[in-house]
Amino acid sequence: MQILTNPHALRQWHTEQHRAGLRIGVVPTMGALHEGHLQLVDQIRPHADRVVVTIFVNPLQFGPNEDFGRYPRQFPTDCALCEARGVDAVYHPDVPGMYPDGFQTHVEVEQVSQRWCGASRPGHFRGVATVVLKLLNQTGADVAIFGQKDWQQLQVIRQMCRDLDHPAEILGAPIVREPDGLAMSSRNVYLSAEQRSNALAISKGLWHLQQQVASTARAPAELQAELLATIAASGGQPEYVGLVQAESLEPLDDFSVAGRALVAARYGATRLIDNVELPVRDVQAKP
Ligand code: PAJ
Repeated sequence: MQILTNPHALRQWHTEQHRAGLRIGVVPTMGALHEGHLQLVDQIRPHADRVVVTIFVNPLQFGPNEDFGRYPRQFPTDCALCEARGVDAVYHPDVPGMYPDGFQTHVEVEQVSQRWCGASRPGHFRGVATVVLKLLNQTGADVAIFGQKDWQQLQVIRQMCRDLDHPAEILGAPIVREPDGLAMSSRNVYLSAEQRSNALAISKGLWHLQQQVASTARAPAELQAELLATIAASGGQPEYVGLVQAESLEPLDDFSVAGRALVAARYGATRLIDNVELPVRDVQAKP
C-alpha cells in the first residue's frame, strides 16, 4: 500500500494508473476509521481498479467553537486498517499542503447547503465542498463514495459535481450501525456510557417515525414534533428534526414523494446525526 502525503506525488501516482487504463476510486475521510468507513472501501471496490482512501481533518469545515483541535487522530492505526482492507493508496496531506499561503478559492453550493446542518454550522458545507473538489481533482477520481449517514453532505457533493461538470461518478453507501442501532461515527468515542445508551433514542425514534409514515395517516409536522420530544425526553438536545424531500432537502408537505427524516442532536457536548428513508404514501388513496 502506497502512502502519499503531497499533491505532486499523488498526481504522479494517478497519472501512472490512468496511463495503464485503470479506474481510480476514492474514499474521502477525516480518519479515525471505523467499520462505516471501511465498508465504503468494500463498496467502491467493484467500481474501481485502484482504491485511494484520503485522510485529512479539514480545518475549513469546522466552526470556531467546534472540535477541530480534539478531533480523533490515529494515522498509524488507520493505515493498518486500510492495508488489511486491501486499499491501494492512502493520501494524507498536511494543512499547508492543502491550503498554502494565499489560498483564496472556495466552493459554495447554495440552496441544498442552506437548511439543517448548514443552518446550524455556518460555513461547514462550503468547507466540505471545497475540500472534496480538491480531493477529487488531486486524486484523479473516476468514482468516489460517500456515506448516506451524512445525507445532506452527499446531496451537496452531487449538486457540486453536476454544477461544476466534475466527471467523477458519485456513489452513496448505506449507513453502518452498531448492533444496537447507533449509527457509527468517529465522534461516538466522546460519549459516556450513559449518553451512548440515551442516544439510542435517535435511531429508535427514526425507525418508529418511518413505521408511522408507512402505517398511519399522521402528518409530517406531528411526527416531527413527536421525534423532537422523544429526543429531548432521552436527555438529548435536539438541533433539528427535518422531514425532507430526499434530494432538494426542502421540507415535505406530505409523503407523496421520496423523503428522508434527518436528525441532529447533542448528548452532552457530542453532536450526533442520523437519518432514514421515508416510504412514499399513496396520498390519493385517502378518503
Ligand atoms: P468522515 O466523517 O470521516 O466520513 C467519511 C465518510 O464516511 C463520509 O462519506 C461519511 O458519510 C462516511 N461515514 C461515516 N460514518 C458512516 C456510517 N456509520 N455509515 C456509512 N458511512 C459513514 O464526512 C467526512 O469525513 C468529511 O466531511 C469529508 C467528506 C471527508 C470531507 O472532509
